[in-house]
Amino acid sequence: MPEGPGKTLDCGISTSAVILAAGQGTRMKSALPKVLHSIAGRPLVHYPVRAALEAGCGEVVVVVGHGRERLEAYLSEAFGASAHGIPEAWKGRVKTAVQKEQRGTGDAARAGLEAVRPEADRVLIFYGDVPLLTAPDVAAVATILNGEPNGVALATCTTKEPFGYGRVMRNERGDVIEIREQKDLRSDAERANEEWNPGIYAASVAFLKEALASLRPNNAQGEYYLTDIVSFAAQRGQRVFGVPSNPAVMDGINDRAQLARGERAMNERILEKHRVAGITVRDGARIEDGVVIEKDATIESFAVLRGRTRVGSGAVVDVGCVLTNADIGEGVTLKPYSIVTDSIVRARAQIGPFSHLRPESDIGEEAHVGNFVETKKTRLDRGAKANHLAYLGDGFVGENANIGAGTIFCNYDGFQKQITRIGKNAFIGSDSQLVAPVTIGDGAYVGTGTTVTRDVPADALAIGRAKQENKEGYASRLRGRLAAQKAAAAAEKKAAEK
Ligand code: UD1
Ligand code: CA
Repeated sequence: MPEGPGKTLDCGISTSAVILAAGQGTRMKSALPKVLHSIAGRPLVHYPVRAALEAGCGEVVVVVGHGRERLEAYLSEAFGASAHGIPEAWKGRVKTAVQKEQRGTGDAARAGLEAVRPEADRVLIFYGDVPLLTAPDVAAVATILNGEPNGVALATCTTKEPFGYGRVMRNERGDVIEIREQKDLRSDAERANEEWNPGIYAASVAFLKEALASLRPNNAQGEYYLTDIVSFAAQRGQRVFGVPSNPAVMDGINDRAQLARGERAMNERILEKHRVAGITVRDGARIEDGVVIEKDATIESFAVLRGRTRVGSGAVVDVGCVLTNADIGEGVTLKPYSIVTDSIVRARAQIGPFSHLRPESDIGEEAHVGNFVETKKTRLDRGAKANHLAYLGDGFVGENANIGAGTIFCNYDGFQKQITRIGKNAFIGSDSQLVAPVTIGDGAYVGTGTTVTRDVPADALAIGRAKQENKEGYASRLRGRLAAQKAAAAAEKKAAEK
């Protein structure tokens, strides 16, 4: 959302929002309730709830039913008292109401209205499956009723061939008199109507009580339609305000093709927000909603930034990197195809290409982690280097220590994880195995190809490989013998074939 949390538009604290999210979402063909399918790293329902809060609504009632427990669990985690990263004022404003049986949007709205607090005088109703709408879009529908307490307002959109949406029907004078669902349209002329209903409504509590009680399921789907409150108002001579709205943000998500389109649009919106804020973001990057990027960072194509990832100023996240809850310091370079999960990379460190930093890695300032190096639960202090082909698990690597290619921290004995400690300025020769628990002292040297099973004191050299022997002239004798063996084997085979 471009507004960012905290900015509220004035819809009025005495306005309550009711968000309908009880349906199964049959068209998703999924075990997961529709509104918990995610785009840009958050469930669909997150966005309308946030739009209502940003619009300044005094409370948000989410109507739940299908998949109720999971939905309630998500809402309390994201908006409850101990939620992270939302304004204090929003905490505890979101509650749920239960629609026992999914008998249509009108029935769901009725369940929601019953849970609205007594202080509310106006109610905004919209759907939980419209993730791109923003706070100004919903606020506009509520605020048009300022000074018109008996009116009913709804957003309307106009586009070519709005297949699947309810259509806005007007009389000769141009007043809105009814919303008619796609399945209830009676003629080609009605189907050609380009004005449709994106599903944002506002009215007084008193009106809604009466209107929702009047609904009958006399329609093609045999459901209670929320949209019938419009004809109810028009027939009683109440004013109905159509609020022209931006169709680009009003797409309801009903199936996975629409889910993909919604995500594409949301991703573009997020990339745009970062670009305008001074970050170079190449086309093809994917950045989730909660990610923080500081100025002058560069995010290359096909980088994927997820969850609570932060990228510091001037950092470069090169092609194909995947960051999940990663904390990337300023000036860090992540070369192509590096993966960082639940880990910290401190200022000016260099990672990759093809590094894999698994959870709880902490890479110090100016440290280097290179090609095909895997780390897990390991801290590298400032300036430490592991440039090629290593596994560093459950360890500590001191300042400016150097870890050679092919080094392995043997951290697991099949039962427990053990710790490897390497002192500052230590040098671990290539192809060494450090069998944990083990400590290499400051400035110590481990000779190439050593299997270290005992602690190495500071400044010592540990070397554990077999002594080398050179046999002069042996190579050509060896070749001759091997060639003769091969020829004999071929001759034997030929003889056997005859
Ligand atoms: C609805 C509108 C349609 C509008 C479109 C905009 C009605 C009758 N139709 O149609 O005019 O153009 O949205 O996107 O309102 N839900 C419940 N309980 C139920 C049924 C639905 O909570 O018993 C919730 C769903 O979880 C969903 C929302 O209401 O989030 C909308 O329901 P959906 O079935 O998607 O309505 P549409 O057919 O899209
Ligand atoms: Ca829908």
